[in-house]
Order: sequence, then C-alpha cells, then structure tokens
Amino acid sequence: MHENQHRTIHQKDYSVPDYLIDTVELDFDLAPECTRVLSRLTLHLNHDTGNGQRPLVLNGDDLKLVSLKLDGVELPTEYYQVTDQQLSIPDLPERCTLEIGTEINPAANSALSGLYASGPMLCTQCEAEGFRRITYFLDRPDVMAIYTVTLKADKKSCPVLLANGNRTAQGELPEGRHYATWHDPFKKPSYLFALVAGDLVHKAGTFTTCSGRTVNLEIYVEEKNRDKCDHALLSLKRAMQWDEEEFGREYDLDTYMVVAVDDFNMGAMENKGLNIFNSRYVLASPESATDADYQAIEEVIGHEYFHNWTGNRITCRDWFQLSLKEGLTIYRDQEFSADMQSRPVKRIEDVKLLRSSQFAEDAGPLAHPVRPESYVEINNFYSMTVYHKGGEVIRMLRTLLGKEGFRRGMDLYFERHDGQAVRVDEFVQAMADAGGRDLTQFMRWYDQAGTPVLSISDSYDEAAKTYTLTVSQSCPPTPGQPEKLPFHLPLALGLLERGGREIPLRLSGEGAAGGTSRVLEVTEASQSFSFLDVPSRPVPSLLRNFSAPVKVQYPYSDEDLMLLMAQDSDPFQRWEAGQIQAVKLICGLVADIQAGRPLVVSEPFIAAFGKLLADLDQDSAFLAEALTLPAESYLAEQLEVIDPEAIHQAREFVRSTLGERHWDLFLAAREKCVAREPYHPDDGLSGCRKLKNLSLSYLMATGKQQAIELGMRQFESADNMTDSLGALSPLSNCDCPERSQALAAFYQCWQGDRGVIDKWFTLQATSRLPGTLSEVLALLEHPDFDLRNPNRARSLIGAFSQANQVRFHEKSGAGYSFLADQILKLNSMNPQIAARLLTPFSRWRRFDPSRQELMKQQLQRILAEPGLARDVYELAAKSL
Ligand code: PHE
Ligand code: ZN
Repeated sequence: MHENQHRTIHQKDYSVPDYLIDTVELDFDLAPECTRVLSRLTLHLNHDTGNGQRPLVLNGDDLKLVSLKLDGVELPTEYYQVTDQQLSIPDLPERCTLEIGTEINPAANSALSGLYASGPMLCTQCEAEGFRRITYFLDRPDVMAIYTVTLKADKKSCPVLLANGNRTAQGELPEGRHYATWHDPFKKPSYLFALVAGDLVHKAGTFTTCSGRTVNLEIYVEEKNRDKCDHALLSLKRAMQWDEEEFGREYDLDTYMVVAVDDFNMGAMENKGLNIFNSRYVLASPESATDADYQAIEEVIGHEYFHNWTGNRITCRDWFQLSLKEGLTIYRDQEFSADMQSRPVKRIEDVKLLRSSQFAEDAGPLAHPVRPESYVEINNFYSMTVYHKGGEVIRMLRTLLGKEGFRRGMDLYFERHDGQAVRVDEFVQAMADAGGRDLTQFMRWYDQAGTPVLSISDSYDEAAKTYTLTVSQSCPPTPGQPEKLPFHLPLALGLLERGGREIPLRLSGEGAAGGTSRVLEVTEASQSFSFLDVPSRPVPSLLRNFSAPVKVQYPYSDEDLMLLMAQDSDPFQRWEAGQIQAVKLICGLVADIQAGRPLVVSEPFIAAFGKLLADLDQDSAFLAEALTLPAESYLAEQLEVIDPEAIHQAREFVRSTLGERHWDLFLAAREKCVAREPYHPDDGLSGCRKLKNLSLSYLMATGKQQAIELGMRQFESADNMTDSLGALSPLSNCDCPERSQALAAFYQCWQGDRGVIDKWFTLQATSRLPGTLSEVLALLEHPDFDLRNPNRARSLIGAFSQANQVRFHEKSGAGYSFLADQILKLNSMNPQIAARLLTPFSRWRRFDPSRQELMKQQLQRILAEPGLARDVYELAAKSL
C-alpha cells in the first residue's frame, strides 16, 4: 500500500517542462491563520519539447484554490482539474496569463515547509518543493522566472516586510495594514523565493565591492537579540571579500539580507538576496556562544553567501543535480574557513566528519551516489554524501587540475552557464575544457556509491635503488550497484627516509627529481608506480592531506607511524599517524575486554602522547586535535561488529590512564593556556581554549576530586561560554554531587536563551552516565521541551541517539523504543525532522544479533504506522 502511494522518481525520466514561466506577480494578504495568495503568471508553451499542445500541470500541496482566471476571465470548473497535488488545465493558448488565488494557513504549518509561522513572525522555506505549498506552480528548478512580490500585513505585528531583490514601493493601507513591493531583477527558480513578515530590528553594515558599488548588509533579528549580530555581519563581509579575491565573484544586488528564525528545519537557506537562517547560525555573544559556535556562524554565513554564484546565478536543472550546488558550495565554504583560521586544523575537522558520518552512510542501506539515480522524497537526499562527499569530489578536481587550472575551470563554468539551470556534466565539462583533460572516468564519482578502498603494497630493490608502490582499488557493493568500475583519483604522497628526511621524487621515465610531494593519478584497478634513486627503504606518506575520499590499507609498523607522526611535512599526516596508532590501541583493548583479558595501555603510546603534550610550542589548535582520541563513532566504523559498551570502556580506559600518567603535563598545558585578557572570539586564542579544555577533560577522566574541583572552579569563574561548557561537559559525565549543582546553576542563569538551553538539553542527553535515558525521558516533560521546535528536538532526541552511542544502544533496547516513539510523534508534525532522526536505525546490520533484532522491531513498528509520511517511509523501508 505504501509502495504505490509513494512514487519513485528516476533521473532517467527527466523531460523538459512543457511550459515556461516568464514573470510571476505574487500578492500576499498575510495573516497567521489565513493568508490569501494571488499569483499572476505569464507563461508560454516550451517549443523545446516539440510536443505541440499539452496540458499545463501545476504542482500544489495542501492548498485551497479560491479563484482561477485565464487571460483575465474566470475559468469555469469544467476547464480544469484539481487534485491533492496538481492543478491541470488541458487547453491553453501558446501564450497566456493565469491568475490563481489560493488560501493557506501558516499557523498550522508544523512541517516548516512553505509559508509558516515561527513565533510571532511569518517566513518561508521553499527548497526543495515548498513553493507548491504556497501556490500552484511549475515547482521545479529548471523553470526560472522574474518575480515581483507585494506583501500586505498588519502594521503593528508585522512592521517589517521583506522579499527577494529590491523594494520598489511601500505604503499604508486601511485598517492598520501596510504593504511593500519587492522586485528581483534576476531570473530564479521557485525554490529561491522567500518572504519574511514580522516585528524585527536589523543590524546594518555596508560592503564596497571590487567594482566600487556599495552593498547594504542587513541582519534581521528579534529586538532581544539586537546585540548578537556582530559576528554574522563581520563574517558576511569577510565572505564577500574572499569570494572576490579567490573566485573573482562580485555580489550583484544592492542589498543582502539575512533573517534569523527560531524554527527552521536545516541550517540556513540561500534565497536570492534574502537568506533565511536558523537562529543558531546567526546569534552569538561571548557569554552565550562557544568558539565552535562562532566558527559555525562564519562557515554557514559563508556557505549561503557563496551560493549566490554557485546555486543561484547558476542553478540545478533537476534535483538529481543537487550536488552541483551543494558539493561545490561546501568546498567553497571549507576553503573560506581554512583561509580564515588554521588550514590544517580545518582539514582535520572536515575529514573527521566525513569519515565518521559519510563513510557510515556509504557503508549502509541508505548509500547513494553523489548524484542519486532515484528518490521517493528529495528532502532525504540533503545528505552527507551529496554535500560532503560532493565537496571532496570538487576538491579532487582542484587537486588534479592545480590551482590555476581549477580557477580557469570555474571562470569558464560561470561564463558559459550564468543564468542557466544545468547538470553536473556541464560543470565537469567546463573543468575538462579549461584543464585540457579527459574527465570521463572521473564522472564515476558522481554515479557510483560506496567508499573505495586502496590496498597499497610496496617493494624496495636495494641494488637498483628503486621503490615500487602497487595500488589496487576496489569498492564494496551498494544498493542497486553490485559491481563498480575503477575510479580516477589523485593519490598525494611523499617518501620519508628513516631519519626523517623527505626524498626528492623521481618516477621512472622522468629525467630529474622534482619536489618531495607528488600527486599520482590512479585510474586502474591495479597499478604500479616506481620511484628511482631511493637511497634506502622509505616510509611512504600516503594520501597526503586526504587527497581522495577513500580508505587506505597499508601495513604500517608502529615505528613507521611514530616516524610520520614526528616528521611528516604534511600536518594532516602527522595527525593521521597518531590517529592510526590510537585506533589500533583502542581496538586492541576492545578485543581484550571481549575476551576478559586485563587492560593495559602500551608504554610507547603513553610516551609518544606525553612527548606531544610536552611540546607546547606547537599550534595549540593542532595540538588539541592530535591529543584527541578518535571518536566512538569512528572507532565503531573500524569494527566488524560494533560493541558500544566495549568501545566506550576501552576509550575511557585510555583517557583515564593518560590523565593519570600525564597529570602534571595536563596541568601545565592548562596553566599555559589560562587567559590574561577578557574573552574575545577573534583573539586568536580559540586553539588555546581548546587545548585547555581538552586537558581538563583528561584530568577529569581520572575521577579525582582535585580534578572535579578544578572543573567547578573553571565553571564558576568562566567569562565565556567556551570555558563554561569546557567545564560543564566533563562535569555532566561525572557521577558526583557537583554535577547536578552545576547543571541547575547553568539552567538558572540561561533560562530564556533558546540557544543556550539547547546546549543544556544536549549536555544531559550526551552524558555517559548509566542513568541518562531516564533523564532524557524526564526531560521530554520539561516545560522548556518542545518537539515542534527542530533545534530543541535535535538537542535532546538527536543528541541522545546520534552522539551517545553507549547509552542509546543500551542492551535492553529501551533507547530504541524511545527513539521510535519520538519519530512516530514527529511523523505527522514534521516529516523532514522525523526522517532525519531515523539515521541510527539504518545502521542496525552493524551490531550483534540481539541489537539487530531490537532495532529491526522498531523499524517494523514505524513502517506499520498508518499514514506514514513519504520522508519517513522511504528511509525506514530502505533501512530494513
Ligand atoms: N540549501 C540549503 C543550504 O545548503 C539547505 C537547505 C535545504 C535548507 C533544504 C532548507 C531546506 O544551504
Ligand atoms: Zn548549501
């Protein structure tokens, strides 16, 4: 029954639209419970189809049609058909004007797609298919039109009326109402439409573009948040500057607006000239936001800004091409952040996220190519694969083409396709043409799912002084793709002598050595590369800077890893070598726990860790990364069968051992990082704070009272949220009276600040203490808990199920039934959020038979629910 109810859309079935829309005039009579929308479309038959006359089929969803006129004349009901999802008009002239009146109820829109109420304001979210919940339309990205929008609303409750483009008129209306008219001179697809109406204040700034134009920048927030916009504004200016310098891209309208809303399904939305943001990616003050929050704001502000060229000026032909804009824009925001802070640390952070989340997605039942071939609900494909693997694919192009070649490719892409809706193929073709390269095989990255594995072996010929690497690639089967063809990938590497010197590289066939780092191009299933003049058997530094989204298998010895960790010229590799050792150690301990053997942390590991920790002259942010053990989720990825308890126990054992053995060094690291000045997010000391708080967490892992007191003292005296949470987070994992004392004080202090109260929920949901699930259940009843607010739902339910492996996967299965309960409640309320919460269940095959059974039961229970939303149905069905 679900099967025919929920149709699968296939990429191969794409056909060009039968009609095109030239202009759209929208008239909104706004009121929370009943908004009237009058849409006037000028449209014409699309001769590209060669199909002659065809019915016009407009999309609609949850709409009430109240009027319909064709070329100014009321259309009698026998001339059209309305269903749940469509308005069809069989006979139309080649060119005509349609006037469509609809009625909607924003206050009842709990799905937060289309026009909805967030607190006292009204706002829209149209990507991917929300516009059809506002009016009947050709709601697909290859239909691009010019929009003129008039908003009418009560002046007192909605003094601010915003839409895309430029304001062209405004004035008073009878009965305390007023209006504003906006015109967007750029053609756009409906998913980029936006409006906002509310009682907002704005923080203003300006940016002068490279051609000397002045752009007004406006960050809109509720009055109480007036003082929390500075960082967003600053980040926006930095992003605009950076896109001019790095990509030669200038902003194209006179105003750029950002609005913060509290109820938002995703991070933010790049609507033309009027970005709408989840308030967590706008609002910040030193007392209430952490360094990580500040960094995330910069990143998301950048991301949405960069979409103006990669997404808006050039958009996607259809939703299968989503990565055309998202992968590219992720790559751009990663590079922006790398230039704003520490490049190696940013790369480490990005790779950690990719390997713990995207690799897991690629290894499970929801694996899909960067360009999927089918979907039931497109919202389910705003995935780690489309975004982050898509970003890695762009990065590989950059590596293969070099800085100049890549920039030429980008320029050519903009030159050829500005104003168009295109496919990934057009992007890659521009790169191929600009780089003078054949990228046919490279396209497989877009169409084959799964994480390739590179098995690398080597041999050294002492007499000939030749070193040969043999690289074999394979890719595990994924749903619908049992066999894979070889990928074209850049393998960046270097060779180190035992003493640490890097060897100048000369491949066989080359006249002279050039450089100590090289990008090999791997294209075959198995391939050998020989290096000449290699004085002794080297240690290979493989996949430098993580040059491709693959897993590398090479039999490194402990000494090899120690050498790379200490000497590699690539900081990413130094970090990576340490991680490989830590993974080995912890996975070994997991086996010891399972076999009932006593646990010991090897002395060389403790010594190497201490050596790193003592080297406080290093960049602290990098050092903090190097001293952080691999996450439980990443460790889980390394095991055949995931054993959440053993992983947790093993990792904690290593943490407490290190805390005890290096007690004085951790104290010294903290000491060195104690701030001498009041906090400022841009003081360049965020790395220091990271190292200081990491040290505290190691000290507290010992459970010693002295450490708990250190934590309490830091918590009580912190002048900023980074240090406050840096102490409260280990405290919340500590079974001590100070814990509840601190949590209660934190709540008292921050009650009423949504963003901080989200953190308070998350702290408790992610506590490793055994009583966590009962605390989470109690928190569901807390007056501040609200399932309808996505951030709040994520802060408790998402955090518990996705960031607390050991407690969520409790043997009894109680965590599983808790999650299923919440998903079922959300199913009718907000299907997108409900579907996103399903992720942990999709991993059921990776666990022991008993957990498998328990998780499967919950999936079956969800699937048995009558009236399951398309979003939830698709993920649950594919997971089973
Ligand atoms: N396009 C948005 C982005 O990545 C994400 C988004 C998708 C927001 C769907 C809302 C709905 O920037
Ligand atoms: Zn995006």
